[in-house]
Amino acid sequence: MAVRITLSPTALGEIERLRKAQGAPQGQPIALGLTRGACQPLAYRLKFGELPPPTADAPSANAPVHQVDVGGGITFLIAAEDIPHLQNLHLDYAEDLVGGAFRFQNPNAAEVCGCGASFQPAAPAP
Ligand code: FES
Repeated sequence: MAVRITLSPTALGEIERLRKAQGAPQGQPIALGLTRGACQPLAYRLKFGELPPPTADAPSANAPVHQVDVGGGITFLIAAEDIPHLQNLHLDYAEDLVGGAFRFQNPNAAEVCGCGASFQPAAPAP
């Protein structure tokens, strides 16, 4: 299955800003995963580097891992089990009066928490 994830120009810019701030090498992939959420069953996890080993809170963070080219020279690593919950995700970044944050526009979410960091999947959670 082809995996489709898109980024807005502001998300691309924020990722590059964070890459420089954190000293992450150019070309280093970004791990996009799911963990148990606080307000909804699943929460997004985004960090430079490999997917972390599986834990009780993130049992799907294991192989096989898909490499998804999201444009702008950026590759996301996504565990196969998470793909049904992340397919066609659009990642945006926006600033407001209390600061900036990534905004996840996920067509697989049946409900989203108030801050947008966790969601109720339309399909059963892994
Ligand atoms: S995780 Fe609680 S409001 Fe978003």
